[in-house]
Amino acid sequence: MRRKIVVANWKMHGCLAVNLRLFEGYKQKLAALSHTDFVVCVPYPYLAQAQLQLQGTHIAWGAQNLAKYPEGAFTGEVSASMLRDFECQFVILGHSERSTAYCESGENIADKFMMAKSVGLTPILCVGETLQERESGVMERVIAEQLDYLLQTRGAEVFADSIISYEPIWAIGTGLSASPDQAQSMHEFIRGRIAKQHSSAAEGLRIIYGGSVNPSNASKLLCMPDVDGALVGRCSLSVEEFSAICEAAGQIQV
Ligand code: PGA
Repeated sequence: MRRKIVVANWKMHGCLAVNLRLFEGYKQKLAALSHTDFVVCVPYPYLAQAQLQLQGTHIAWGAQNLAKYPEGAFTGEVSASMLRDFECQFVILGHSERSTAYCESGENIADKFMMAKSVGLTPILCVGETLQERESGVMERVIAEQLDYLLQTRGAEVFADSIISYEPIWAIGTGLSASPDQAQSMHEFIRGRIAKQHSSAAEGLRIIYGGSVNPSNASKLLCMPDVDGALVGRCSLSVEEFSAICEAAGQIQV
C-alpha cells in the first residue's frame, strides 16, 4: 500500500509574514492527519523559514528546482547540497512553468534528477501534455517521451523512492482539472511503462496528480487506485483549502 502524499507548490508567492500564517495554519490543521505525508515546496529564500517552522512536525519541506552541477561558477543557481543544508527532503523538477519559460530539455531534467538523488533528496518529476496534444490523442506518446530519457539512460530503478507528478499543462492554474478517469488512465500508463523495466520500482513509485486540485475535486481524484497524492498550487496558498485537500487524502487512507 502506497502512502498518500500531498505537496504544496507555492511557486513564486509569499513573504515572511504571509508564510508564517500559512505555516502556522498548516501545522494546526494537519496535526491530526497521521496517515498521509505532507510537503511544502517554497521559494529558495524561504527555506530557512520553512526549516525553522516545520522541523519537529510531520510536514516536510522542499524546493522547486536545483542546479544540475554540484558547485561552481554558475551565477544565480542553487545546488542540491545547499538544499540539504536546510534539511530539504524534496525537490520539484521539470515543472512545465519552468520547462516552458527556460526551455529545459529532457537531458537537463534527467541530470537534475540524478543530482537530487545523489544527495538524498526525493525528486518530484513533473510530466504533462498540452491541450493540443490531448485533443489530438498523442498524450501517452508525449508522456512516454518525457519519461524515456531517464528510463533509457539511467534505468527504471531510479524511480524507486522517487515521485512522478502527472500535471496536464491545460489543467495547471486554469481551474479545469483532469477528470478522475483521465488522471487514473494516465497514472496507470506511467506505472505500466516503468513496470515493463522494473516491476518493484513501479509498484512502490508514488504518482501524484497536479492541476487545479481543489477541495471539491480532491476526494474523487485521490481515491483512484493509481493516484497516490496531489501537487497543489493555488489552493496551497489558503490554509482552509489546502487542509481540506489534505483531509480528503487522509480519509482515503483510513
Ligand atoms: P495549480 O498548480 O494547483 O494552481 O493548478 C499546480 C502546479 O502547477 O503544481
